[in-house]
Amino acid sequence: MADIENLPLENVVWHPHQLTRAQREVENGHPALVIWFTGLSGSGKSTVAGALEQALFQRGIKTYLLDGDNLRHGLCRDLGFSEQDRQENIRRVGEVASLMVDAGLVVLTAFISPYKAERKKVRELLEPGQFIEVFVDTPLEICESRDPKGLYKKARAGEIRHFTGIDSVYEVPDSPEIYLPGQQSVETSVTQLLVELKKSGIIRSRIHHG
Ligand code: ADX
Repeated sequence: MADIENLPLENVVWHPHQLTRAQREVENGHPALVIWFTGLSGSGKSTVAGALEQALFQRGIKTYLLDGDNLRHGLCRDLGFSEQDRQENIRRVGEVASLMVDAGLVVLTAFISPYKAERKKVRELLEPGQFIEVFVDTPLEICESRDPKGLYKKARAGEIRHFTGIDSVYEVPDSPEIYLPGQQSVETSVTQLLVELKKSGIIRSRIHHG
């Protein structure tokens, strides 16, 4: 695959939009940002992100959830699990998330995103405070005992190669904005997330106009 980050942008000129993110944020009544869940397969990222999205939606916040398994059915269908493919997967997700932030949304993402460098690149696409890294710290033994898709079993049997936690690395975040202990219930995690998002002023109460 071509080194996309270094492709020349000859004859392609950025077109400035007339409607800004700031205007959309005022209209929506909340800031736009990315809540980036990272953790092992089976750690609970998608479940907690889905439950948080519902809680935010009920509070009138405009959200969208990007999920690893789902994006790999479409936008990232051509990608596997080599280091290079995972890097490209996260690059695409970062670009999509960044566009959605521009559209004024609170974007929740649930990807293993095992490499620190790739997570950092997504952070750097956004403005300070717009990237909230949430580490779902569920130990490998627990993920493996849950094995919701039977993939750990296959990985142990050598039927799947490069499986994260088995024969592919997961680089633990050094200082995630939010740390979720893996064993806590989904409800407790959502409560913790709402408290932390409010405490840091990221999710405020709705702004009313007029
Ligand atoms: S990432 O590493 O590129 O961020 P992503 O989150 O998109 O991964 O996809 C992970 C999901 O793909 C897992 O939850 C699992 O269902 C499935 N999967 C299939 N093969 C692998 C593999 N080798 N390693 C990890 N997950 C895999």
